[in-house]
Amino acid sequence: MRITINQIKEMKPKGEKISMLTAYDYSTARIVDEAEIPLILVGDSLGMVVLGYESTIPVTMEEMLHHTKAVVRGTRRALIIGDMPFMTYHISTADALKNAARFIQEAGAQAVKLEGGVNVAKKVQRIVECGIPVMGHIGLTPQSIHQLGGFKIQGKTPEAAARLLEDALALEKAGAFAIVLETVPAPLAALITQKVSIPTIGIGAGIGCDGQVQVINDILGSFTDFVPKHAKQYARLVDIMSSAIAEYHNEVKSGKFPTEAQSFNIDEKVL
Ligand code: KIV
Repeated sequence: MRITINQIKEMKPKGEKISMLTAYDYSTARIVDEAEIPLILVGDSLGMVVLGYESTIPVTMEEMLHHTKAVVRGTRRALIIGDMPFMTYHISTADALKNAARFIQEAGAQAVKLEGGVNVAKKVQRIVECGIPVMGHIGLTPQSIHQLGGFKIQGKTPEAAARLLEDALALEKAGAFAIVLETVPAPLAALITQKVSIPTIGIGAGIGCDGQVQVINDILGSFTDFVPKHAKQYARLVDIMSSAIAEYHNEVKSGKFPTEAQSFNIDEKVL
C-alpha cells in the first residue's frame, strides 16, 4: 500500500520531518523506495540532470510521462508526484486538468506538482476538485527563470516576502496537500511553515520547513555541471563511476576482460 497524502499531512502536527527525493528511472526509484523515502518527485529537473537541457523549460509532457511510468514501475510504497512541465497548465484550466489527469491515468502517479502561488490557485483548486492531489511550489520557480532574472534567493524584500506568504496561503486554500519552498531565506521559510497548516518541503529554505527535497543526482554527486549551495554531497558517484569505467576500458584493451567467469562454453563435439 502506498503512502497517502493524509499520512503526509499528519506528519506536520506530529513534528515528524518529511524527506523527499527526485528519481527519474526504474532502478534508482527502487533504491529510493527501499530506503523508505515517502515522497518521490519525478521532477522536471530531469531536463538538466538526465536529458542535458540547459533548463527545465524544454521538458515536454511526453518526456515527463515516460520517466514517471518508469518510476512508478520501480516503486511500491512511495507516493509518486509528477512534475507538470512548462506551459502544460498555464494556457487554460482545461489544459491543466487534462495534463494533470495524464500523470495519474497514463503514468500511474498519485499526485502532481506545479509552480506558482496566487496565479495558479484557481487551477490547483479545479485539479483537486477532480480528485488529483496537488503539491505547490513557490519561491525560486525554475520554469520562470527568465522572468525572475536568474537563480536568485526569493522573498528578500518586505513586499516579496509578503507575496510569498500570500502565495502559500492561496495554495493552502486551493487544497494543495503540501508546498515546496525553493531558495527562500530560512527565517522566512520557517515563518511561512508556521502560518500554513499543510507541510512545507524546503530546498534551500533551511531547517524550519516540515520536510526537505533534493535532486538525487546532487546528493549522490553524479551530476557535476554545477552543485547548488543547498545540496550536500553524501557521495561522489562521479568518481566511483569514472574509475570503474576507466578500469573496464583498460581491461578490454589489454585482454583482461572477459575471463572464464564471464564466458559461456559449448560441448567440444558440437563445436
Ligand atoms: O524539478 C525538480 O526536481 C523540483 C525540485 C527541485 C523541487 O522541482
